Amino acid sequence: MASIQIDDKSIDFQPGQSIIQAASNAGVYIPHLCYHPEFTAHGSCRVCMVEVNGRQVSACTTEAQDGMQISHMSDDLQQTRKQVLEMLFAEGNHVCPSCEKSGACTLQSVAEYCGMLTAEFTFQYPQREIDASHEDFILDKNRCINCELCVRASRDIDGKSVFAIAGRGGQAQLIVNAVDGQLGSTDFSVQDRAASVCPVGSILPKHYGFVTPIGQRSFDLKPIEQQQVSGHEG
Ligand code: FES
Repeated sequence: MASIQIDDKSIDFQPGQSIIQAASNAGVYIPHLCYHPEFTAHGSCRVCMVEVNGRQVSACTTEAQDGMQISHMSDDLQQTRKQVLEMLFAEGNHVCPSCEKSGACTLQSVAEYCGMLTAEFTFQYPQREIDASHEDFILDKNRCINCELCVRASRDIDGKSVFAIAGRGGQAQLIVNAVDGQLGSTDFSVQDRAASVCPVGSILPKHYGFVTPIGQRSFDLKPIEQQQVSGHEG
């Protein structure tokens, strides 16, 4: 069987698998945000960077090739990841201490795993819409990281295309496909896959909050690197 070497571990893989799929199946965690095993790789967040023969590539979009020598925890990679994460925190409004998603937030947990303590970029404090028009959800665009998981889930699984990304580069922003742009004007529902795939606190359910106390939430109980391998969620 074909195999790759990730640091000191030899990992067998199936043809067509990406590096992150092969690693995950073997219990090796590679930090990531826009990758999700249920969806086609997107390759936009750049958190999953690894070194293949000394060159940095995204593990979610690079196919495993027999004999690849891969490093996933070098100082350079950790530095790259921290900078990517710092940019994400600086360009949005992430209010971790008061966020309902704290302790169950993938962005927060990946940042902790990567040793990011504070963002060293200038905070942008954007003024973005908080859409509370839907009876069951709040859509807070201030916390969106443009991973497009909700876009892909709504389009590819729910068959609704409730969400889309408008604009490019730094102007790119999540929008709702409705004439008035409001979530309440769509058929988005609690059963939708897109309703539970958001890795941050952007799509939040209404009617309850802090039901699970901070300290007892998903990533409080089990670190992200132990959850996101071998058929994991997110
Ligand atoms: Fe690979 Fe986002 S997880 S680029």
